[in-house]
Amino acid sequence: MQQKIMGLFPVPVAIIDTGSEFLACVADVLELPTRDNDLADQMTLNTQILDDPHRRPLLDFLCGRAASFATEVLAYRQRDWGISNSWGNITRADSGRKSGHGVHNHPNSVISGVFYSEVDPVQGGALMLHSPNDPHNLHVPAHTILLEPDPDKVAQSPYAWPWANVDVRTGMVVLFPSWLRHSVAPLKSGRRVSIAFNCVPHDGLGSLRDGYGLSFAKFADARQGR
Ligand SMILES: [Fe+2]
Repeated sequence: MQQKIMGLFPVPVAIIDTGSEFLACVADVLELPTRDNDLADQMTLNTQILDDPHRRPLLDFLCGRAASFATEVLAYRQRDWGISNSWGNITRADSGRKSGHGVHNHPNSVISGVFYSEVDPVQGGALMLHSPNDPHNLHVPAHTILLEPDPDKVAQSPYAWPWANVDVRTGMVVLFPSWLRHSVAPLKSGRRVSIAFNCVPHDGLGSLRDGYGLSFAKFADARQGR
């Protein structure tokens, strides 16, 4: 008798190392006004920071990578992708606030990502990606199902992982579907600075032929006509 396990429906996560190529585009983020983030430490008041003209090389790079992720990995027809929101996250281990970032996802977005402008994995602050298949992440009361994982077996089987850590570094970009729940592990020391962003197709969502399509250009044109 033979058995094989099929690994169906994996979640795509792109990890791109840009080295120091785009760090100059975000060198001023620490000088921007911030506010308390309910789930974390500080975030910039400006939630469109990648629209600043001096960040254009980074913006263009990220839009290109999002388009490639959308067309080549997720197989969408929409080829032209833009960044709908972008903001800086600044965490200081000694700020007295949250040193990590609580579990969340990004609504009103298709692809989300993070560019890391200052991170040292030795200090903590890993990106934690949470499995959509883990019983605790399903839309049922968690304690209606009581299972007891065997830690030794869990380590051997990716199907049993409740989450996976990505040890992010300065200059790295991570892209993932916006519905994927994620969090940030506590920072043990020092400072962590990242730029989060959401991506949508410039042409809108869906097909205008079926009555449910949403064209962003239609609204932009209407605003300009006011
Ligand atoms: Fe996030």
